[in-house]
Amino acid sequence: MRRLAVIGYPIGHSISPAMQQAALDSLGIEAEYVKIEVAPGDLATFVQELRAGDWGGINVTVPHKQAIVPLLDSLSEEAAAIGAVNTVVVDGSRLRGHNTDASGFKRAIRDDAGFDPAGRNVCLLGAGGAARAVLWSLCESRARRVLIVNRTVERAKSLLDAASRWNDWAELEVDLLPSTWGEWSDTLAACDLVVNTTSVGLHRSDTPLPASAIPDGATVMDLIYNPRPTRLLAESMPRLRTIDGLPMLVYQGAAAFELWTGLSAPVGVMFEAAERARIESSH
Ligand code: ATR
Repeated sequence: MRRLAVIGYPIGHSISPAMQQAALDSLGIEAEYVKIEVAPGDLATFVQELRAGDWGGINVTVPHKQAIVPLLDSLSEEAAAIGAVNTVVVDGSRLRGHNTDASGFKRAIRDDAGFDPAGRNVCLLGAGGAARAVLWSLCESRARRVLIVNRTVERAKSLLDAASRWNDWAELEVDLLPSTWGEWSDTLAACDLVVNTTSVGLHRSDTPLPASAIPDGATVMDLIYNPRPTRLLAESMPRLRTIDGLPMLVYQGAAAFELWTGLSAPVGVMFEAAERARIESSH
């Protein structure tokens, strides 16, 4: 049988094992999907070990998505452009990196939020690994304008630099987080979609911005899926369309499953298992 895993540091919180094992079991595939904590200093050794043994592939999460890139033999077009890998396919002793976060975001925003980014104005909060994949997807979907808002402006500028290599459509701008709550209304004035890719909101009492500053008619997506809802989504819900991070998690996982198995992923089974695991992990 083949082995699959998600690696990260820390990794205790991951609900990918429950979701992927349910998918494997439902199709009768005899494979085991586990979580493995890999410290940054051990990443190269771990990747070397993937070349031997019975591995089908791995998922890669924080903080390894960028660090793993130079350790692989080849990259998909998206992974190379985004500069981050969340899925590795092991083919004999060769390792190929993919990024299914971008397609996961694209499918979630279209199918679950009913939002088409083409020609729309987006406010992207954050400039880390997740923001990279979301920005790639927004440019590919032909968003009109994306304002990247981040606490650290240098990081937002470096994302802008990366994006200018593959973007030939959207107008891209960077900005710092507004320093007062009152300034958010100006930042968000023309915005059709707000996407939170920062970790602000993992603690129930935190929110990255005042929902009251988001204009009527906008959609709000929070990549965080636990707590459900985050404070940002709870405050947006009465007036705005909202979507949490679970659909993106499921779709990135489904795309990874398809890369490893060559089979169509049982997306409904994965949704149910992910929902169950989310409830269990929030207790
Ligand atoms: P990921 O790969 O999940 O995107 P990351 O690369 O560590 O994770 O990025 C985390 C993002 O959350 C960054 O945009 C970070 O802002 P900085 O670039 O300024 O560090 C943002 N973030 C984390 N904690 C934050 C906080 N307390 N306030 C504002 N932004 C925060």
